[in-house]
Amino acid sequence: MCGIVGIVSNKPVADRIADALKRLEYRGYDSAGIATFHDGKMDRRRAPGKLTNLKECMSKEPLGGNIGIGHTRWATHGAPTKENAHPHMTNRVAVVHNGIIENFRELKVELAADGYVPVSETDTEMVALLVTREMDKGVAPFDAAASVIKRLDGAFALAMIFNGEENLIIGARQGAPLAVGHGDGEMILGSDAIALAPFTNKVTYLEEGDWVALTKSDMRVFDRQGSPVTRSISTANTGAELVSKGNHRHFMSKEIYEQPDTISHTLSHYVNFSEQRIQLPQALPFDFSKLTKLTIASCGGSYYAAMIAKYWFEKYARLPVEVDIASEFRYREPPMEEGGLALFVSQSGETADTLAALRYCASQGQHIASIVNVAESTIARESDIVFPTLCGPEICVASTKATTAQQTVLATLAIAAGKQRGVLSDQDEAELVDALAKLPGAISKALASEPKIASLNKALSKAKDVFYLGRGALYPVALEGALKFKEITYIHAEGYAAGELKHGPIALIDESVPVVVVAPSDALLEKTLSNMHEVAARGGKIILITDEKGAKQAGGDISEIILMPEAHPLVQPIIATVPVQLLAYHTAVFMGTDVDQPRNLAKSVTVE
Ligand code: AGP
Repeated sequence: MCGIVGIVSNKPVADRIADALKRLEYRGYDSAGIATFHDGKMDRRRAPGKLTNLKECMSKEPLGGNIGIGHTRWATHGAPTKENAHPHMTNRVAVVHNGIIENFRELKVELAADGYVPVSETDTEMVALLVTREMDKGVAPFDAAASVIKRLDGAFALAMIFNGEENLIIGARQGAPLAVGHGDGEMILGSDAIALAPFTNKVTYLEEGDWVALTKSDMRVFDRQGSPVTRSISTANTGAELVSKGNHRHFMSKEIYEQPDTISHTLSHYVNFSEQRIQLPQALPFDFSKLTKLTIASCGGSYYAAMIAKYWFEKYARLPVEVDIASEFRYREPPMEEGGLALFVSQSGETADTLAALRYCASQGQHIASIVNVAESTIARESDIVFPTLCGPEICVASTKATTAQQTVLATLAIAAGKQRGVLSDQDEAELVDALAKLPGAISKALASEPKIASLNKALSKAKDVFYLGRGALYPVALEGALKFKEITYIHAEGYAAGELKHGPIALIDESVPVVVVAPSDALLEKTLSNMHEVAARGGKIILITDEKGAKQAGGDISEIILMPEAHPLVQPIIATVPVQLLAYHTAVFMGTDVDQPRNLAKSVTVE
């Protein structure tokens, strides 16, 4: 994840920005840069590689100035070169950015028509050019930034400084975190409180959609609509910030909210957005086109992520997939064709059953691949190739950001397989990559349904049983929703394939049973809606998770609708995972259970 720092002060900032960037190194980066405004002009230093390279540039050519912004970049659009490193700068503005600007292609065409042509391959430069175009028309920096922020789609955090303005930093948060530090005669902007720690422990965490204007002495915050809002100042325990809850009540909530950022960071490892193609981090030790079958084994939420992937691999790569619960797989001793591919999905990388399944497959001459979040784990070490999820430590026992990162990596692998097997054309790949580029932004929008979801907590807390229904790749999301719900609310919940309910379980439905139907508008929507109406006819209280189109088609009989953004079918299951996480979270909070450490459960299950 890219790191952002900005300081507006009455003393020099460049070296202090560099130190703050150092504190953000844990987020991972491949280049870095700093821009300041000094002596009537803006200037910048940028360098690929480690911060020491940037510091070396700065020691040769120091940057003066009491206002500046800095950035550690994890490349999304364009290689990690000096030209693509942030800040991106024109004669008017310098910009640093974390995340993905989804509509950068459209913006690029529009800007080019007006003669504003980028010099880098980045999406970020569009922001600099848009602001420049406004300022060239005579618009003041504050107003130019305000109007440009409104035009950006996606999940991102931004910071800007302006030529001629030594007392204004603009920051914006939409899907990626950003915090403001209240220093002594200075204000600081940072990706998190860790960056702010050397300066102050008085921190304001910006909320989704907020943007902020900082001067040396004050902070003005505005919401998405541009209305001024008040955000409180809290005291950060920055020593332990890496494992702290920030401004969230629970780790689970923090981790749910990190998802736009963790997904975009994970994607940047697997996707070349500039060329609109999948670019896996390392060469594969196997050839997808030679495989006759893919075997996947994992447990719990990681198993449901693998189940979704089965739909993707079969649809986009026409590759048959066997997916099984690791504890079953290991004792089945299934016959395996030598040279096949076995994939293991695990957040911890230590799950005993998954590891045993891996060892069985290794003994059967399979290529061993794994998707893990803990890079040093046993599963990672025993794999021929590791596909990391890059979402940082996950503390809450109920997995959220690791689950969606696993799904994201699996989606990229399915596309890579489809490409290698000749099932997907370049154009198909570009279309799917476009859907992935829009994913972090869509997750942000899905998070906006939180107030609606929270309002259902009381009714859900009274239920004895809750059903979750879905079809196709949304069926595993129903399973995931039920798992999350029972894990932290201790209420019985069951996920079912929507079409299967009438083969028995529908007998359980009456007025006391909430039924969560996960059904965005896709090819199977009509079928799922018919199943939903069968349930409603028997008194079941329907909570429908869908998009605008789906809501229009759904008709009556529905108690509650939770709206998600419309999206490409590839990413619908990943987006739909967010509302089911929030449903479980808010019900558990209402009930007062131990959300982060539910009874009887462990984060890493290293026993059978
Ligand atoms: C998910 O919320 C659970 N806590 C659990 O099902 C988990 O996914 C499972 O134990 C597998 O763990 P792993 O991903 O670390 O292998």
